[in-house]
Amino acid sequence: MERAQIIDLPKILDPRGNLSFLESGNHIPFEIKRTYWIYDVPGGEMRGGHAFKEQKELIIVLSGSLDVIIFDGIKEKKISLNRSYYGLYIPNNLWRHMENFATNTLALVVSSTSFEENDYIREKDEFIKLKIDEKNSI
Ligand code: TYD
Repeated sequence: MERAQIIDLPKILDPRGNLSFLESGNHIPFEIKRTYWIYDVPGGEMRGGHAFKEQKELIIVLSGSLDVIIFDGIKEKKISLNRSYYGLYIPNNLWRHMENFATNTLALVVSSTSFEENDYIREKDEFIKLKIDEKNSI
């Protein structure tokens, strides 16, 4: 799966309260190596402005809301997340950041790799250059 897209996770409706879940390699197109979560984000702050060379991930907003901005080197797209049964799949090699966090938003990120600083592309100019080189490398 090479396109960023919303994955509709299972939702078990129950008068006692709803339940959603995901399984590694089943509902998401990768094996899970790590999860991390983002919380207590002050109003107006941004997180996650970078790309990954290898890491694929799924962002689930468990509570609250935020916008994910993805950028492929040319086009930019905004995806608003505000349901705990939607996961935004983001493949490697896409720039992304999160913004517009509502108060008390809790975002869970499920990742295909262990933490590896060398996997990060933290400079947007470098990312754009890599994308240009990629497109020219036939
Ligand atoms: P980072 O992914 O750089 O977040 P942001 O792009 O929003 O600043 O992570 C922030 C810091 O946390 C960075 O020093 C690396 C560290 N970190 C870990 O040690 N393990 C992890 O799994 C993650 C996601 C981050």
